[in-house]
Amino acid sequence: MLRGAEFGAIFNQVTDNELLKIAKSVAQRAYAPYSKFLVGAALVTKDGRVFEGCNVENISFGLTICAERNAVFAAVAAGCREFAKIVIATDTQEPASPCGACRQVLAEFDPDMEVILGTFRGNTIAYRLSELLPRPCTGILDRP
Ligand code: THU
Repeated sequence: MLRGAEFGAIFNQVTDNELLKIAKSVAQRAYAPYSKFLVGAALVTKDGRVFEGCNVENISFGLTICAERNAVFAAVAAGCREFAKIVIATDTQEPASPCGACRQVLAEFDPDMEVILGTFRGNTIAYRLSELLPRPCTGILDRP
């Protein structure tokens, strides 16, 4: 089993299946006493590092942070901003897709990155972020 991904470990040619295993394993560390919905994310940088995130809930509810955003924030704090893909694992029948807030945060760094949704059982479906969040930077969010 691949470990140490939370430190941005460099894996050469890590497969989507291995990334799903990482995401599933980090989901076990989610802090989700209120929803009991465990989510894990494995975020791969363009230079092949992997950062992990899990959801961390709060009694206020509103302060909860999703797995995807925690993975992005860990990567950025480690100096990485160029992402190739994110693999998200949930214990659901069908793969679950990221919330709007997480889509917007991912789009900040790459509006067309690959987003792979997977279940703990290994069902996967792949999207480009542009399919899940078209036109992320238009209108009031226009970039200068
Ligand atoms: N959650 C995530 O971590 N990622 C998503 O894409 C959707 C929702 C978390 C937030 C909360 O802890 C729980 O799942 C229920 O919404």
